[in-house]
Amino acid sequence: MLLTIQNLTKTFVGMKALDDVGFELEAGEVHALLGENGAGKSTLIKSLTGAYSRDEGTITLEGRTISPRSTLEAQELGIGTVYQEVNLLPNLTVAQNLTFGREPRRFGIIDGRAMRREAEAMLEGYGLDIDVSHDLGNYSVAVQQIVAIARAVALSGKVLILDEPTASLDTREVEMLFDVVRKLRDQGLGIIFVSHFLDQVFALTDRVTVLRNGRKIVTEKTAELDRVRLIAHMLGRELDEEEENAARRATAGRVGSEPLLSFRNLSRRNYVEPFDLDIHRGEVVGLAGLLGSGRTETAQLVFGVKTTQTGTISDDKGKLGIASPRDAIAAGFGFAPEDRKTDGIIADLSVRENIALALQARRGWARPISRAEQDRLASEYIQKLDIRTSSAEKPVGELSGGNQQKVVLARWLAMNPRFLILDEPTRGIDVGAHAEILHLIRDITAEGMAILIISSELDELISISDRVIVVRDRRHVAELTGSEIASENIVKAIASSGEKEREAV
Ligand SMILES: Nc1ncnc2c1ncn2[C@@H]1O[C@H](COP(=O)(O)OP(=O)(O)OP(=O)(O)O)[C@@H](O)[C@H]1O
Ligand SMILES: [Mg+2]
Repeated sequence: MLLTIQNLTKTFVGMKALDDVGFELEAGEVHALLGENGAGKSTLIKSLTGAYSRDEGTITLEGRTISPRSTLEAQELGIGTVYQEVNLLPNLTVAQNLTFGREPRRFGIIDGRAMRREAEAMLEGYGLDIDVSHDLGNYSVAVQQIVAIARAVALSGKVLILDEPTASLDTREVEMLFDVVRKLRDQGLGIIFVSHFLDQVFALTDRVTVLRNGRKIVTEKTAELDRVRLIAHMLGRELDEEEENAARRATAGRVGSEPLLSFRNLSRRNYVEPFDLDIHRGEVVGLAGLLGSGRTETAQLVFGVKTTQTGTISDDKGKLGIASPRDAIAAGFGFAPEDRKTDGIIADLSVRENIALALQARRGWARPISRAEQDRLASEYIQKLDIRTSSAEKPVGELSGGNQQKVVLARWLAMNPRFLILDEPTRGIDVGAHAEILHLIRDITAEGMAILIISSELDELISISDRVIVVRDRRHVAELTGSEIASENIVKAIASSGEKEREAV
């Protein structure tokens, strides 16, 4: 056995995050670690790699008992980790990030050329076409994630831990990453793979271990497990598909004819080609496309994050001057962005404060939201979104990743905007909560709120959207409604080349 964990227990103030957990990893296997938000997956990984101290438990690597006290020490012992949020430095170059801490030197001075060469060698086989002398922050989250993996593999080399590495990757990039992971497995690495995407678990992994409420429920061969049983292990109950379908039927025919908002000829050079977009009351419009196709860029123009070079935005009363997010919020727009770390939440503030914050900003600080109202809002959304926290007063930074994501969503919902943009709202959210969030989106649109949703999960877009707009190469290339909304049609629109389209016109 490459790695053995026995009797691992970890307590946070007042709660047992891990209770007597055992885990085994063989060389040359990909082992999925699964469970709902808050089940203890990240805590297990952090206790294994010394990021957290453990109360009890032994760790054996290649027959030797180890006890790393920091992730650095774990790395030196051979255990490399890539967490669900990229933990590299965006202001350094790709090469600096890759060689950080062991830069090649000549005469005591960092040798830039050798550094770049080394970085390029480290990235070989990962299928990235990037310039290692550019700042890491210039590249998409996806590319940053892959760079982080390359660094971890190069530095550790025995065990690679991936904590939701694919949460922000599109289908093509996931395939690319999987090829890399399979190659590493065939070279004899043991890989621990945490993901909420069950398709990926079935496609990639050899064995599965399920955690629930800090306890190990089961370890099984992936090939001997079916989806329904796996979900039952995770939830401790079975998912009700009837409910899901009923909710879906109930959303039909709610779209009015007069648009709530009209975006005309919006564009920004080298960003998004000119597009028109009408949004109706109670409508869910999905934006489909590959990562980097212009989906997020579209949302940013609509919300005033980036200024437009052409175009107008209006509602039924006339033109809206939207030159900044502040203007957009004043006009009743909301935008829950993809990267919760930079735009989403304030880790030190409590769940209650985080939920109340945006609403307070909109109202103006002259009219403070009373403590009673904050408490009411917090408990309403903790319940509605099933946010797993011991209390509304817990700092958001202490919640699990998926539960932090729910707090971001709660904050925007609490503002009750007439138009809400959701960029990857279910990224990092487990199966149970996933369905809850989709239900919630349906409920709020039934009350008239309009939604623009960006999601890399086609099934999700298809099930929730009244209309789907396909974006490719920074252009809106297709619009599908009703029965046209099918994965076949979306994939076709995403894949068809610009050439063919011009011929067709
Ligand atoms: N630093 C911390 N302080 C206090 N409690 C914590 C801390 N880190 C995690 N917890 C608690 O431990 C439990 C397990 O959290 P963990 O992050 O391991 O979940 P997870 O399985 O990774 O979930 P997710 O899928 O949402 O990432 C949660 O109840 C969480 O609130
Ligand atoms: Mg986690």
